[in-house]
Amino acid sequence: MMSKYFALIPAAGSGSRMENNLPKQYLPIAGRPMIYHALKALCHFPKIASVFVVLAPHDSEWLKHDWSEFSDKLIMLNCGGTTRSMSILNGLKAASEKLLIGDNDWVLVHDAARPCLSETLLEKIVDELTNDAVGGLLAVPLADTLKRSNVSSRVERTESRKDLWQAQTPQMFRYKLLVDALSRPSSMTMTDDASAIEGLGLHPKLVLSDTRNLKITYPQDIVLAELILRTQLGGDGECS
Ligand code: CTP
Ligand code: MG
Repeated sequence: MMSKYFALIPAAGSGSRMENNLPKQYLPIAGRPMIYHALKALCHFPKIASVFVVLAPHDSEWLKHDWSEFSDKLIMLNCGGTTRSMSILNGLKAASEKLLIGDNDWVLVHDAARPCLSETLLEKIVDELTNDAVGGLLAVPLADTLKRSNVSSRVERTESRKDLWQAQTPQMFRYKLLVDALSRPSSMTMTDDASAIEGLGLHPKLVLSDTRNLKITYPQDIVLAELILRTQLGGDGECS
């Protein structure tokens, strides 16, 4: 049987590094809450059967917005955990209570905090991994020179950037493999899904991405993301 594709968006974080009372996934960007852009990219991608969004149990923002344009392709789960990995593991388990998901079906995990995911990159990761035994992730080779610091913020030494990549999302793995990997206690504090898969001794494939698929972490990232969205959307960059 053909494997299906699902997407899961962890959105249960607080965005502590954004220093804003509103969780960052709801901060306005190009006229919409940040998470809208990730939802739109994934919900509009025909190969993906359903998109699950994992919210914090105490989320008080989601229902303030109108998500009806995504109809029943979007499924909301209120089971976020205290770490990203916990949110994803809880979400994967809750998702299989809502829909029939096969062990070999693909799950694309994509952070709510990456609003600039293009259709081109989405197509690329799905195409490159669909016959892969392990799965993988979008990533970019490191561009800057790397410095290791000492305790007084002085350069201890320069590190080679050869073979170093920055991990992005989506990260695409088969349902059962991802559940098994994230169920290991050591996975709970890992900051991406690929690390959990690596913990099983496997080697996720790096799919060449570009820096426009940036993650919003600090306040200044919003300006850059808006500029990128503006060129992707055309016009004034506001979503209609
Ligand atoms: N996330 C989650 N559950 C958590 C922590 C994070 O679902 N307990 C989600 C975030 O909502 C975000 C993604 O994981 O979409 C990537 O995490 P990150 O960028 O670190 O977001 P936050 O944890 O919210 O931000 P910070 O680390 O600055 O607090
Ligand atoms: Mg975090």
